[in-house]
Amino acid sequence: MKIINYNLIIIALLFVVGCSKKENNNQSQKENMENIQVSDYGVTAKDDSIKKYTLTNKNGMKLEVINFGGIITSLTAPDKNGKYEDVVLGFTKPEDYFNGNPYYFGALIGRYGNRIANAKFALEGKTYNIDKNDGPNSLHGGKEGFHTKFWNIEPVKDAKFPTLKLTYTSADGEEGYPGKLSVTVLYTLTDDNALEISYEATTDKATVVNLTQHSYFNLSGNFAKTITDHELQINADKFLPVNETLIPTGEQKAVKGSPFDFTVSKPIGKDINSDDDQLKKGKGYDHNWILNGSGMRNIAKVYHPQSGRVMEVLTDEPGVQFYSGNFLDGKFDTKTGGKNEFRTGFCLETQHFPDSPNQPSFPSTELKPGQKYQAKTIYKFSVKK
Ligand code: BGC
Repeated sequence: MKIINYNLIIIALLFVVGCSKKENNNQSQKENMENIQVSDYGVTAKDDSIKKYTLTNKNGMKLEVINFGGIITSLTAPDKNGKYEDVVLGFTKPEDYFNGNPYYFGALIGRYGNRIANAKFALEGKTYNIDKNDGPNSLHGGKEGFHTKFWNIEPVKDAKFPTLKLTYTSADGEEGYPGKLSVTVLYTLTDDNALEISYEATTDKATVVNLTQHSYFNLSGNFAKTITDHELQINADKFLPVNETLIPTGEQKAVKGSPFDFTVSKPIGKDINSDDDQLKKGKGYDHNWILNGSGMRNIAKVYHPQSGRVMEVLTDEPGVQFYSGNFLDGKFDTKTGGKNEFRTGFCLETQHFPDSPNQPSFPSTELKPGQKYQAKTIYKFSVKK
Protein backbone atom coordinates (compact mmCIF):
# COMPACT_ATOMS: atom_id res chain seq x y z
CA MET A 1 0.00 0.00 0.00
CA LYS A 2 2.70 2.36 1.04
CA ILE A 3 4.65 1.74 -2.17
CA ILE A 4 1.57 2.51 -4.29
CA ASN A 5 1.08 5.76 -2.39
CA TYR A 6 4.66 6.79 -3.02
CA ASN A 7 4.31 5.94 -6.69
CA LEU A 8 1.18 8.00 -6.96
CA ILE A 9 2.87 10.94 -5.27
CA ILE A 10 5.87 10.68 -7.60
CA ILE A 11 3.62 10.46 -10.69
CA ALA A 12 1.60 13.45 -9.49
CA LEU A 13 4.77 15.44 -8.84
CA LEU A 14 6.22 14.59 -12.26
CA PHE A 15 2.95 15.69 -13.86
CA VAL A 16 2.96 19.02 -12.05
CA VAL A 17 6.67 19.65 -12.90
CA GLY A 18 6.05 18.64 -16.53
CA CYS A 19 3.08 21.00 -16.86
CA SER A 20 4.90 23.94 -15.34
CA LYS A 21 7.95 23.32 -17.57
CA LYS A 22 5.69 23.31 -20.60
CA GLU A 23 4.07 26.49 -19.36
CA ASN A 24 7.50 28.09 -18.87
CA ASN A 25 8.55 27.09 -22.38
CA ASN A 26 5.35 28.45 -23.86
CA GLN A 27 5.74 31.56 -21.81
CA SER A 28 9.31 32.18 -23.00
CA GLN A 29 8.34 31.45 -26.62
CA LYS A 30 5.45 33.88 -26.29
CA GLU A 31 7.67 36.53 -24.78
CA ASN A 32 10.18 36.11 -27.60
CA MET A 33 7.54 36.66 -30.22
CA GLU A 34 6.24 39.66 -28.30
CA ASN A 35 9.84 40.90 -28.39
CA ILE A 36 9.81 41.02 -32.18
CA GLN A 37 7.62 43.67 -33.73
CA VAL A 38 7.05 44.01 -37.47
CA SER A 39 6.17 47.35 -39.07
CA ASP A 40 6.12 49.03 -42.50
CA TYR A 41 9.45 50.67 -43.26
CA GLY A 42 9.28 52.15 -46.76
CA VAL A 43 8.57 51.56 -50.43
CA THR A 44 11.31 51.14 -53.07
CA ALA A 45 11.28 52.89 -56.48
CA LYS A 46 9.97 49.59 -57.92
CA ASP A 47 7.03 49.68 -55.47
CA ASP A 48 8.23 46.89 -53.21
CA SER A 49 7.19 47.49 -49.63
CA ILE A 50 9.93 46.93 -47.09
CA LYS A 51 9.31 45.75 -43.53
CA LYS A 52 11.19 46.59 -40.39
CA TYR A 53 11.70 44.05 -37.57
CA THR A 54 12.36 45.39 -34.09
CA LEU A 55 13.89 43.00 -31.55
CA THR A 56 13.92 43.95 -27.86
CA ASN A 57 15.78 42.09 -25.12
CA LYS A 58 14.84 41.95 -21.42
CA ASN A 59 16.97 45.04 -20.67
CA GLY A 60 15.22 47.15 -23.31
CA MET A 61 18.10 47.00 -25.82
CA LYS A 62 16.75 47.23 -29.38
CA LEU A 63 17.86 45.96 -32.78
CA GLU A 64 16.12 47.11 -35.97
CA VAL A 65 16.54 45.17 -39.22
CA ILE A 66 14.94 45.58 -42.65
CA ASN A 67 14.36 42.93 -45.29
CA PHE A 68 16.23 45.04 -47.88
CA GLY A 69 19.93 44.08 -47.74
CA GLY A 70 19.43 42.50 -44.29
CA ILE A 71 20.35 45.99 -43.13
CA ILE A 72 20.66 46.86 -39.45
CA THR A 73 19.14 50.33 -39.28
CA SER A 74 19.49 50.79 -35.52
CA LEU A 75 21.06 49.11 -32.49
CA THR A 76 20.97 50.59 -29.01
CA ALA A 77 23.45 50.09 -26.16
CA PRO A 78 23.59 51.45 -22.60
CA ASP A 79 26.04 54.11 -21.40
CA LYS A 80 27.52 54.29 -17.89
CA ASN A 81 24.27 55.87 -16.62
CA GLY A 82 22.14 53.11 -18.12
CA LYS A 83 20.94 55.28 -21.02
CA TYR A 84 20.26 53.26 -24.19
CA GLU A 85 21.21 55.10 -27.38
CA ASP A 86 21.65 54.13 -31.02
CA VAL A 87 25.27 53.13 -31.78
CA VAL A 88 25.16 52.25 -35.50
CA LEU A 89 25.30 54.74 -38.36
CA GLY A 90 22.40 54.93 -40.76
CA PHE A 91 20.36 57.13 -43.06
CA THR A 92 17.39 59.22 -42.01
CA LYS A 93 15.42 58.40 -45.20
CA PRO A 94 14.56 54.82 -46.28
CA GLU A 95 15.23 55.68 -49.96
CA ASP A 96 18.91 56.32 -49.21
CA TYR A 97 19.24 52.62 -48.35
CA PHE A 98 17.26 51.60 -51.44
CA ASN A 99 19.05 53.87 -53.95
CA GLY A 100 22.64 52.70 -53.70
CA ASN A 101 23.64 52.87 -50.00
CA PRO A 102 27.10 54.20 -51.02
CA TYR A 103 28.70 53.40 -47.66
CA TYR A 104 27.07 49.95 -47.26
CA PHE A 105 25.59 51.17 -43.94
CA GLY A 106 24.49 48.21 -41.77
CA ALA A 107 24.24 45.76 -44.68
CA LEU A 108 24.84 42.05 -45.07
CA ILE A 109 27.71 41.71 -47.52
CA GLY A 110 28.15 38.91 -50.06
CA ARG A 111 28.80 36.86 -51.99
CA TYR A 112 32.36 38.05 -51.32
CA GLY A 113 32.97 40.73 -48.67
CA ASN A 114 35.95 43.03 -49.37
CA ARG A 115 37.94 43.24 -52.62
CA ILE A 116 38.85 40.78 -55.37
CA ALA A 117 41.71 42.05 -57.57
CA ASN A 118 40.89 42.93 -61.18
CA ALA A 119 37.37 41.56 -60.61
CA LYS A 120 38.34 38.03 -61.62
CA PHE A 121 39.49 34.71 -60.24
CA ALA A 122 40.03 31.16 -61.44
CA LEU A 123 38.33 28.12 -59.96
CA GLU A 124 38.75 24.53 -61.11
CA GLY A 125 40.52 25.72 -64.26
CA LYS A 126 37.87 28.26 -65.28
CA THR A 127 38.20 32.06 -65.08
CA TYR A 128 35.24 34.01 -63.71
CA ASN A 129 34.79 37.74 -64.37
CA ILE A 130 32.79 39.37 -61.61
CA ASP A 131 31.30 42.85 -61.35
CA LYS A 132 33.98 45.58 -61.44
CA ASN A 133 32.56 48.23 -59.11
CA ASP A 134 35.67 49.64 -57.38
CA GLY A 135 38.24 50.91 -59.88
CA PRO A 136 39.81 47.79 -61.39
CA ASN A 137 38.49 45.58 -58.56
CA SER A 138 35.27 44.05 -57.30
CA LEU A 139 34.10 45.23 -53.87
CA HIS A 140 31.54 43.63 -51.55
CA GLY A 141 30.01 41.23 -54.07
CA GLY A 142 29.55 43.78 -56.88
CA LYS A 143 27.14 46.66 -57.48
CA GLU A 144 24.13 44.40 -56.98
CA GLY A 145 25.65 42.46 -54.07
CA PHE A 146 23.64 40.97 -51.21
CA HIS A 147 23.27 44.46 -49.68
CA THR A 148 20.76 45.30 -52.46
CA LYS A 149 18.71 42.09 -52.27
CA PHE A 150 15.37 41.27 -50.66
CA TRP A 151 15.94 38.84 -47.83
CA ASN A 152 13.16 36.62 -46.59
CA ILE A 153 12.86 37.22 -42.83
CA GLU A 154 11.15 35.00 -40.26
CA PRO A 155 11.20 35.39 -36.49
CA VAL A 156 12.49 32.10 -35.01
CA LYS A 157 9.73 30.69 -32.76
CA ASP A 158 11.69 28.31 -30.52
CA ALA A 159 14.79 30.46 -29.95
CA LYS A 160 16.00 31.30 -26.44
CA PHE A 161 16.37 35.01 -27.30
CA PRO A 162 14.70 37.18 -29.95
CA THR A 163 16.08 35.84 -33.23
CA LEU A 164 15.51 36.58 -36.91
CA LYS A 165 16.25 34.08 -39.66
CA LEU A 166 17.18 35.74 -42.94
CA THR A 167 17.41 33.69 -46.12
CA TYR A 168 18.46 34.54 -49.65
CA THR A 169 19.20 32.42 -52.70
CA SER A 170 21.80 33.85 -55.04
CA ALA A 171 21.37 32.53 -58.58
CA ASP A 172 24.15 30.77 -60.48
CA GLY A 173 26.01 33.55 -62.34
CA GLU A 174 24.72 36.42 -60.20
CA GLU A 175 27.28 39.26 -60.38
CA GLY A 176 29.49 36.75 -62.24
CA TYR A 177 29.88 34.20 -59.42
CA PRO A 178 29.42 30.50 -60.21
CA GLY A 179 26.91 28.28 -58.42
CA LYS A 180 23.50 28.76 -56.88
CA LEU A 181 24.24 29.80 -53.30
CA SER A 182 21.65 29.35 -50.53
CA VAL A 183 22.39 31.65 -47.61
CA THR A 184 20.95 31.73 -44.08
CA VAL A 185 21.85 34.40 -41.54
CA LEU A 186 20.59 34.50 -37.94
CA TYR A 187 20.49 37.76 -35.98
CA THR A 188 20.03 37.15 -32.22
CA LEU A 189 19.78 39.77 -29.50
CA THR A 190 20.75 38.08 -26.23
CA ASP A 191 19.88 39.16 -22.70
CA ASP A 192 23.54 39.93 -21.98
CA ASN A 193 23.37 42.72 -24.57
CA ALA A 194 25.07 40.88 -27.41
CA LEU A 195 24.20 40.83 -31.08
CA GLU A 196 25.07 37.40 -32.43
CA ILE A 197 25.32 36.85 -36.17
CA SER A 198 25.52 33.31 -37.58
CA TYR A 199 26.09 32.64 -41.26
CA GLU A 200 25.52 29.46 -43.27
CA ALA A 201 25.66 28.78 -46.99
CA THR A 202 25.61 25.87 -49.42
CA THR A 203 26.23 25.76 -53.16
CA ASP A 204 25.46 23.51 -56.12
CA LYS A 205 28.78 24.32 -57.92
CA ALA A 206 32.24 25.25 -56.66
CA THR A 207 32.26 28.96 -55.74
CA VAL A 208 33.88 31.46 -53.35
CA VAL A 209 32.12 32.87 -50.27
CA ASN A 210 33.09 35.52 -47.71
CA LEU A 211 30.09 36.90 -45.82
CA THR A 212 30.21 39.80 -43.39
CA GLN A 213 28.18 42.54 -41.73
CA HIS A 214 28.92 46.18 -42.56
CA SER A 215 27.61 48.08 -39.53
CA TYR A 216 29.49 51.26 -38.68
CA PHE A 217 29.72 51.96 -34.96
CA ASN A 218 29.95 55.21 -33.04
CA LEU A 219 29.59 54.56 -29.32
CA SER A 220 29.25 58.24 -28.38
CA GLY A 221 25.51 58.46 -29.07
CA ASN A 222 26.19 61.43 -31.38
CA PHE A 223 26.79 60.49 -35.02
CA ALA A 224 28.23 63.90 -35.92
CA LYS A 225 31.25 63.26 -33.66
CA THR A 226 34.37 61.52 -34.98
CA ILE A 227 35.37 58.12 -33.64
CA THR A 228 39.06 59.01 -33.18
CA ASP A 229 38.57 59.21 -29.37
CA HIS A 230 37.37 55.59 -29.18
CA GLU A 231 40.02 53.28 -27.70
CA LEU A 232 40.59 50.12 -29.71
CA GLN A 233 42.37 46.88 -29.04
CA ILE A 234 42.80 44.17 -31.70
CA ASN A 235 44.23 40.74 -30.89
CA ALA A 236 46.46 40.57 -33.94
CA ASP A 237 50.25 40.55 -34.26
CA LYS A 238 50.15 40.95 -38.04
CA PHE A 239 48.20 42.78 -40.72
CA LEU A 240 47.97 42.72 -44.50
CA PRO A 241 49.63 45.70 -46.25
CA VAL A 242 47.83 46.79 -49.44
CA ASN A 243 48.65 48.32 -52.83
CA GLU A 244 47.20 51.59 -54.23
CA THR A 245 43.83 49.93 -54.96
CA LEU A 246 43.64 48.37 -51.45
CA ILE A 247 44.45 44.82 -52.57
CA PRO A 248 46.76 42.94 -50.16
CA THR A 249 50.30 42.69 -51.50
CA GLY A 250 50.56 39.17 -50.03
CA GLU A 251 52.95 40.24 -47.29
CA GLN A 252 51.91 39.42 -43.70
CA LYS A 253 53.53 42.22 -41.74
CA ALA A 254 54.20 42.44 -37.99
CA VAL A 255 52.29 45.36 -36.39
CA LYS A 256 54.95 45.88 -33.69
CA GLY A 257 56.36 49.39 -33.62
CA SER A 258 53.94 50.65 -36.32
CA PRO A 259 50.68 52.67 -36.25
CA PHE A 260 48.96 49.30 -36.93
CA ASP A 261 49.82 48.01 -33.47
CA PHE A 262 46.54 47.76 -31.52
CA THR A 263 47.71 44.85 -29.35
CA VAL A 264 47.48 47.28 -26.42
CA SER A 265 44.38 49.49 -26.38
CA LYS A 266 44.94 53.02 -27.78
CA PRO A 267 42.74 55.81 -29.19
CA ILE A 268 41.97 55.23 -32.89
CA GLY A 269 43.23 58.77 -33.56
CA LYS A 270 46.57 58.34 -31.79
CA ASP A 271 48.64 57.32 -34.83
CA ILE A 272 46.09 57.72 -37.63
CA ASN A 273 47.77 60.79 -39.12
CA SER A 274 51.33 59.38 -38.90
CA ASP A 275 53.58 59.68 -41.91
CA ASP A 276 53.07 56.07 -43.01
CA ASP A 277 52.76 54.75 -46.54
CA GLN A 278 50.02 52.22 -45.61
CA LEU A 279 47.95 54.86 -43.81
CA LYS A 280 48.26 57.09 -46.88
CA LYS A 281 47.07 54.29 -49.16
CA GLY A 282 44.04 53.62 -46.94
CA LYS A 283 43.39 57.33 -46.17
CA GLY A 284 43.55 56.04 -42.61
CA TYR A 285 42.91 52.49 -41.40
CA ASP A 286 41.30 50.31 -44.06
CA HIS A 287 43.18 47.05 -43.67
CA ASN A 288 42.74 43.45 -42.67
CA TRP A 289 44.30 42.31 -39.42
CA ILE A 290 45.40 38.66 -39.18
CA LEU A 291 43.74 37.60 -35.95
CA ASN A 292 45.70 35.63 -33.37
CA GLY A 293 44.41 32.17 -32.52
CA SER A 294 41.59 30.23 -34.12
CA GLY A 295 38.04 29.15 -33.32
CA MET A 296 35.54 31.37 -31.53
CA ARG A 297 37.58 33.93 -29.54
CA ASN A 298 37.73 37.53 -28.38
CA ILE A 299 39.34 39.48 -31.20
CA ALA A 300 38.73 43.15 -30.46
CA LYS A 301 37.50 45.57 -27.82
CA VAL A 302 36.39 49.18 -28.21
CA TYR A 303 35.92 51.61 -25.33
CA HIS A 304 34.43 55.07 -25.52
CA PRO A 305 35.68 56.88 -22.37
CA GLN A 306 33.06 59.65 -22.26
CA SER A 307 29.98 57.43 -22.44
CA GLY A 308 31.61 54.41 -20.76
CA ARG A 309 30.33 52.17 -23.58
CA VAL A 310 32.34 49.05 -24.36
CA MET A 311 31.96 46.81 -27.40
CA GLU A 312 33.73 43.45 -27.55
CA VAL A 313 33.97 41.48 -30.77
CA LEU A 314 34.20 37.69 -30.92
CA THR A 315 34.49 35.63 -34.08
CA ASP A 316 35.68 32.34 -35.55
CA GLU A 317 36.96 34.10 -38.70
CA PRO A 318 40.71 34.48 -39.44
CA GLY A 319 40.58 38.23 -40.18
CA VAL A 320 38.95 41.55 -39.42
CA GLN A 321 38.80 44.60 -41.67
CA PHE A 322 39.20 47.62 -39.41
CA TYR A 323 37.93 50.55 -41.44
CA SER A 324 38.03 53.99 -39.83
CA GLY A 325 35.30 55.54 -42.00
CA ASN A 326 37.73 57.34 -44.32
CA PHE A 327 35.30 57.52 -47.23
CA LEU A 328 32.47 59.09 -45.22
CA ASP A 329 32.06 62.45 -46.92
CA GLY A 330 29.28 64.38 -45.19
CA LYS A 331 26.75 64.00 -48.04
CA PHE A 332 23.98 62.60 -45.83
CA ASP A 333 22.31 63.65 -42.56
CA THR A 334 22.99 61.54 -39.49
CA LYS A 335 20.20 60.13 -37.33
CA THR A 336 21.19 62.48 -34.48
CA GLY A 337 21.69 65.69 -36.49
CA GLY A 338 24.64 67.00 -38.51
CA LYS A 339 26.24 65.09 -41.39
CA ASN A 340 27.97 61.73 -41.77
CA GLU A 341 31.41 63.33 -42.01
CA PHE A 342 34.91 61.84 -42.40
CA ARG A 343 35.63 59.29 -39.64
CA THR A 344 32.33 59.57 -37.79
CA GLY A 345 32.00 55.77 -37.75
CA PHE A 346 34.22 52.69 -37.82
CA CYS A 347 33.69 49.11 -38.96
CA LEU A 348 35.11 45.87 -37.60
CA GLU A 349 34.14 43.50 -40.40
CA THR A 350 34.99 39.92 -39.47
CA GLN A 351 35.89 37.87 -42.53
CA HIS A 352 38.41 35.85 -44.52
CA PHE A 353 41.20 37.87 -46.11
CA PRO A 354 40.56 40.15 -49.10
CA ASP A 355 41.40 38.72 -52.52
CA SER A 356 41.78 35.17 -51.14
CA PRO A 357 40.58 33.60 -54.43
CA ASN A 358 43.75 35.01 -56.07
CA GLN A 359 46.15 34.49 -53.17
CA PRO A 360 46.88 30.79 -52.57
CA SER A 361 48.79 31.50 -49.34
CA PHE A 362 45.60 32.88 -47.68
CA PRO A 363 43.02 30.59 -45.98
CA SER A 364 40.70 29.30 -48.70
CA THR A 365 37.29 30.85 -49.36
CA GLU A 366 36.23 28.11 -51.75
CA LEU A 367 32.94 26.29 -51.13
CA LYS A 368 32.12 23.07 -52.91
CA PRO A 369 28.81 21.23 -53.31
CA GLY A 370 28.17 19.06 -50.22
CA GLN A 371 30.13 21.43 -47.95
CA LYS A 372 28.58 23.93 -45.56
CA TYR A 373 29.95 27.45 -45.08
CA GLN A 374 29.61 28.45 -41.42
CA ALA A 375 30.80 31.53 -39.54
CA LYS A 376 29.78 33.39 -36.41
CA THR A 377 30.45 36.85 -34.97
CA ILE A 378 29.30 38.46 -31.72
CA TYR A 379 29.23 42.17 -30.88
CA LYS A 380 28.79 42.39 -27.10
CA PHE A 381 28.02 45.63 -25.30
CA SER A 382 28.76 46.57 -21.69
CA VAL A 383 29.95 49.59 -19.70
CA LYS A 384 33.11 50.57 -17.87
CA LYS A 385 32.64 53.19 -15.16
C1 BGC B 1 36.17 48.81 -47.22
C2 BGC B 1 36.38 50.24 -47.63
C3 BGC B 1 35.19 50.68 -48.40
C4 BGC B 1 33.97 50.53 -47.53
C5 BGC B 1 32.75 50.91 -48.27
C6 BGC B 1 34.94 48.74 -46.38
O1 BGC B 1 34.69 47.42 -46.06
O2 BGC B 1 37.27 48.32 -46.51
O3 BGC B 1 37.53 50.36 -48.42
O4 BGC B 1 35.30 51.99 -48.83
O5 BGC B 1 33.86 49.21 -47.11
O6 BGC B 1 31.84 51.43 -47.44
